[in-house]
Amino acid sequence: MIYLDNAATSWPKPEGVYETLGAFLRHAGANPGRAGHRMAVDAAAALAETRLLLARLMNAGAPDRVLFAQSATDALNLAIKGILRPGDRVVTTTMEHNAVTRPLRAMSERGVQVTKVRCPGHGVIEPADVAAAADGARLIIAGHASNVTGAVQPIADLAEIARRAGAWLLVDAAQTFGALPLDVQALGIDLMAFPGHKALLGPPGTGGLYVGPRVDMDDLVPIREGGTGLNSEDDLLPRVWPVRYESGTANTVGVAALGTALRFVADIGVEAICQREQALTERLVSGLVDTPGVRVFRPSRRAHQAAVVSFVIDGWTPADAGAVLDESFDIACRTGLHCAPDACHTIGAFPGGTIRFSPGYFTTDEEIEAALSAVAELAASPLT
Ligand SMILES: Cc1ncc(COP(=O)(O)O)c(C=O)c1O
Repeated sequence: MIYLDNAATSWPKPEGVYETLGAFLRHAGANPGRAGHRMAVDAAAALAETRLLLARLMNAGAPDRVLFAQSATDALNLAIKGILRPGDRVVTTTMEHNAVTRPLRAMSERGVQVTKVRCPGHGVIEPADVAAAADGARLIIAGHASNVTGAVQPIADLAEIARRAGAWLLVDAAQTFGALPLDVQALGIDLMAFPGHKALLGPPGTGGLYVGPRVDMDDLVPIREGGTGLNSEDDLLPRVWPVRYESGTANTVGVAALGTALRFVADIGVEAICQREQALTERLVSGLVDTPGVRVFRPSRRAHQAAVVSFVIDGWTPADAGAVLDESFDIACRTGLHCAPDACHTIGAFPGGTIRFSPGYFTTDEEIEAALSAVAELAASPLT
């Protein structure tokens, strides 16, 4: 199997991740923070270590400002529903994933005004357009990289705009955390949602939300209440980071395995991972651009492109092409709207969407060449 669907979730995982999943459940599978016995203490230590590794990788400063969530979607829901109140205005873009647009749609039905800034150049945000819309906004939300075109957005510029407007910047780092160097303090990010199961190479069911120092506890309302192991006599949640936002039994086994994945990522270095993925992406893009009958949705030149490449083939619907790539060429990719209908509208690929190849750290050069030949064969024999 040639796996080119790393933008959905990375595969394979580092060997140690599989090992930790089994070993952790056998030897430390107790409930952290709920009891004082050794197994519970070991489970709590694993959570604390992963939190620390995450904080280091993003330069969060205090690890307790990294809140665990089950996915980037879960983290985005906490940020969006926890921050926005009726009467607030939020500025976002037309390149966002449904993990942003759907919670915003729900909030718009509760009195929040949503402004979507269009992104020319196959999905690249123009900071001046965001600045023009930012006055009076409480929150600006942008994906760090598009999961449709790979366009990497000018996050530092957006942070500056947010500061000037008295707003917070929420970044959806689903496509970048672990694959691009990302320093939340240097970039001025206030909130950042991330998955553990994509470029960080951890298992499904992991992710988190970083909450920066400009956002107070009273600014972010928990969206889930329940047991925390702290202050059990009180029917109010404890006013303590991060437990206030982590009610219920944690995904200890997933988080422990994410810790193993983070050590793998740190050993290689995000810079080296980024360079490797960049080389694969450049070869993929140039090969596709040179294939007659193939149209690539590249971000305009002023944007860096993450390891996400969308294209269409003349005479093939993306769905048909994806099925043949899977069945006849053993290539796993994603086709359609990629849970980002606004983005597909923006780049002129609605309603059919695109074929998306997303290489990962473990993708080989040979696999990219094999994928390019498969596309060339399809392009040479259109269905319609
Ligand atoms: C840009 C973007 N945001 C959010 C998500 C949602 O991530 P998760 O699958 O961790 O919920 C994705 C998933 O593909 C994505 O690409």
